[in-house]
Amino acid sequence: MTRQLTADVVVPSQCYLAEGPVWDPAARLLRWVDINPGHVHSLDPATGARTRFAPAGHDGPAVPRSDAVPVGAVGLTRSGGLVLALVDGFALGPARDGTLPGGHYPLSRVAGFRVDSSVIRFNDGKPSPWGDFWAGTMPWQEDGPSCSLYRLAPDGRVTELFDGVGLSNGLDWSDDRTAFYYADSRSGGVDVFATDPETGALGRRRRFVTVPSGIPDGLTLDADGCLWLAVFGTGEVHRYTPDGDLDTVIRLPVDQPTSMAFGGQDLATLYITTAREALTPAEVATQPHAGDIFACTPGATGRPPNLFAG
Ligand code: BGC
Ligand code: CA
Repeated sequence: MTRQLTADVVVPSQCYLAEGPVWDPAARLLRWVDINPGHVHSLDPATGARTRFAPAGHDGPAVPRSDAVPVGAVGLTRSGGLVLALVDGFALGPARDGTLPGGHYPLSRVAGFRVDSSVIRFNDGKPSPWGDFWAGTMPWQEDGPSCSLYRLAPDGRVTELFDGVGLSNGLDWSDDRTAFYYADSRSGGVDVFATDPETGALGRRRRFVTVPSGIPDGLTLDADGCLWLAVFGTGEVHRYTPDGDLDTVIRLPVDQPTSMAFGGQDLATLYITTAREALTPAEVATQPHAGDIFACTPGATGRPPNLFAG
């Protein structure tokens, strides 16, 4: 029997494309990005306090502006800062909480690597268990070029892990570091790669699960080794056991969940990001919480996030 759960709005953030949530255990904050406007958000669940800043541009409305610099993903670093996948490459910066005066943020770009942001952009990314940062690209247009997954090493070197990606999305690693779960949204499912637990080198790839409808988007593993997957377009978050069996479905009142992260006390709250991207005004009228952050306590717990060692 598949368990059916629901989730409640915890932040009426009205983001365009809220993505990549991460629990910051040191600051006790949930952080996430709103990709197109290029915002990094935070929530302090203890007080309800919220912040937002635009690391690569000037802060502005959530509706994308032509001068916004998108942010694909944000991760935490061992030194208490942030590692960012910007629209076309990587950057580091301090973990700032609060809207910055004048929009200034001391961003330090990783030199020597850029993708062509006229046709593709960075999408989901996370620090790995080996202390580097893995992030992939997606085309702006449906018929855009093939994309890749990249690894940023702590010393600033960037490596292409593999190409042939349609739309790089959710990623996570098993606790024993022998498996890497990866969603290429265009492939309709999640694959799992064998990984070398010492180095992270990728081995054999196989299909883990194919979704019957919708688009596989963000994903996270829980402390039981089960995989939570946001199924964009269906209003559902799925949990799969390590054998690939669907055992839980969270139903949301919005069609476009994008990703999840466990956070809060004991990592027992599952935070779910959602999007208003590409919805018509009529669709937004019937799902006014599209773009908000939802939460649910599904019984499972999460793991602390990996940290970038650079
Ligand atoms: C991308 C969105 C896309 C969605 C579903 C997200 O990760 O950022 O642009 O619509 O996945 O494919
Ligand atoms: Ca995503």
